[in-house]
Amino acid sequence: MCGIIGYTGNLDAKEVLLKGLSQLEYRGYDSAGIALEDGKGDVSLYKQVGQVANLKEVCQNAGIPLSHCGIGHTRWATHGGVTEQNAHPHQAGKVTLIHNGIIENYHELTDTYHLQGQLVSETDTEVAAQVIDHFYDGDPLKAIHSALEVLKGSFAFCILFADIPERIYCVRNVSPLVAAMSEQGAFVASDLTALISYSSSYFIVPEYHIMVMEKDHITLLDEQNQPVKPEMLEVNWDVESAQKGGYPFYMLKEIHEQPEAIRKTVLPRIKDGLPDFEQEQIPDSLFRNCQNIAIVACGTAMYAGMVGKALMEPMLRIPVSVNIASEFRYEQPLADEKTLVIVISQSGETIDTLAALRLAKNLGAPVLSVVNVKGSTIARESDYVLYTHAGPEIAVASTKAYAVQLASMYLIACRMSFVRGRYTVQEGKAFIENLLSCVPAIEKILEQTDEIEKAAHHIKAASDTYFIGRGLDYAYSLEGALKLKEISYIHAEAYAAGELKHGTIALIEENTPVVAFATQSHVFQKTISNIREVRARGAYVILITKESAEIPEGICDIHFTVDAKNDQFTGLPTVVILQLLAYYTSLSKGLDVDKPRNLAKSVTVE
Ligand code: G6P
Repeated sequence: MCGIIGYTGNLDAKEVLLKGLSQLEYRGYDSAGIALEDGKGDVSLYKQVGQVANLKEVCQNAGIPLSHCGIGHTRWATHGGVTEQNAHPHQAGKVTLIHNGIIENYHELTDTYHLQGQLVSETDTEVAAQVIDHFYDGDPLKAIHSALEVLKGSFAFCILFADIPERIYCVRNVSPLVAAMSEQGAFVASDLTALISYSSSYFIVPEYHIMVMEKDHITLLDEQNQPVKPEMLEVNWDVESAQKGGYPFYMLKEIHEQPEAIRKTVLPRIKDGLPDFEQEQIPDSLFRNCQNIAIVACGTAMYAGMVGKALMEPMLRIPVSVNIASEFRYEQPLADEKTLVIVISQSGETIDTLAALRLAKNLGAPVLSVVNVKGSTIARESDYVLYTHAGPEIAVASTKAYAVQLASMYLIACRMSFVRGRYTVQEGKAFIENLLSCVPAIEKILEQTDEIEKAAHHIKAASDTYFIGRGLDYAYSLEGALKLKEISYIHAEAYAAGELKHGTIALIEENTPVVAFATQSHVFQKTISNIREVRARGAYVILITKESAEIPEGICDIHFTVDAKNDQFTGLPTVVILQLLAYYTSLSKGLDVDKPRNLAKSVTVE
């Protein structure tokens, strides 16, 4: 949610910022802007509505003088519409700043500091700039500290002070900031993707610490203004993995990376055929002692949790709940020291998920997080972390991150079953063999995309679509519908197949696409009956079953199969079909697959 970058050093700052903004664009792309400092303290602003490409075009033709220091921002609008005025950077007096987050008390601050009439935008960010400028008398640290006392909310700020050339001041609360130093200068950004081409080591700016960036060094100051040594981390991604590598869109590339991502996530955790979390220092007692499990997450990660529940409850015979993080955090959840809270997050920065994690810890529950981004806030604040190894996921619609979240659900479910005496060694080993057989099953799907493309051509004209299934199939259908709606803008609703007749079936008309899942043997016939019900009302049915399933004649218009011996393992290949269906639908509508409207990849505001 909003991408921010800052640079001071010996390179052309404009180029560094524009390149960084392109890499961070998945965080928001309503508008973009940069501020360049001329080495004498003069700051020039360049802003454009729309994607970073628009800003690039303007900057290329503007004859901008060479600058070695600047800040840049790509916006996901929260306060104020998508206009040039509302685009960052914002200026007030001597202060120029960019912001990711929300200043919750900006109305109150507008009154307190009599800012009415002075503001040129509708944003909370401009109020923050005014407040910092209000306190500024030539001492940036003092001004920032004073402002921090009155600003409420989440923020990551990069600030230029007009009379202090070549220096950037940064501070954050909740919203992420990572920084790196190289021979080329000092860099700061919302996340690693913008830094990896400059440095292989980086650090996370600690909350409420002020970071002062100069071209040859970075100073980190704690809340008492005492210098502290940053905790350096090594990047575990390479530059190439954050680029398109010949694919037309990141999403397609990431769909194809799933077999490798699953292997990388699963294989290092297998010892003597069973899942083993010794390296992660996740003790078996965590799994043995809990009486229930609460999974907490948002979006696709939450749907991975739905699969986790559908898997775990029958295996473990303990209650497993799946909680939307933004609900969990405000609704007095039932969790205590006997609850294992599993937090799932690709970015490790989703604000609602983070708040839910903190609440769970306050309630005394042990927290195990499943996170993709190393060193992210959620990972750092959890008691235990199981990292997924998807590498950087750039497309807004999550694909490979979901696949490895599912793989982690399988690993956890298996280890828990074994530890709790519900699985023998043999059963555990067979489970893991089945899990690994999902990899060739996915590869098989990736080799036959023509039929999926055909189905997409049928869907693209529809205004409404329905995804139906029972049990695990219902959990997959939730993710399938989400993928389709987010990148094709077609209404897609997932429904438990047996529940359709209690209302939703009223919406089925001639040619309404229904994606039906029947991969679960124990409810196969029941689902087939539900499909007959929609078919009788004219639905265009796309059916997914196991290869071995025998389907009644004329039950569907298109039939896809997944290669799985066991019903528990149909999810990974099934979901790849759904991802491709969404991808090709979006593509055939001529949409920007990687940057769907109104969305952002990392949601760091409430
Ligand atoms: C956004 C993204 C989704 C993601 C969700 C949770 O909505 O567009 O792809 O599933 O946030 O993000 P997280 O990083 O916590 O998994």
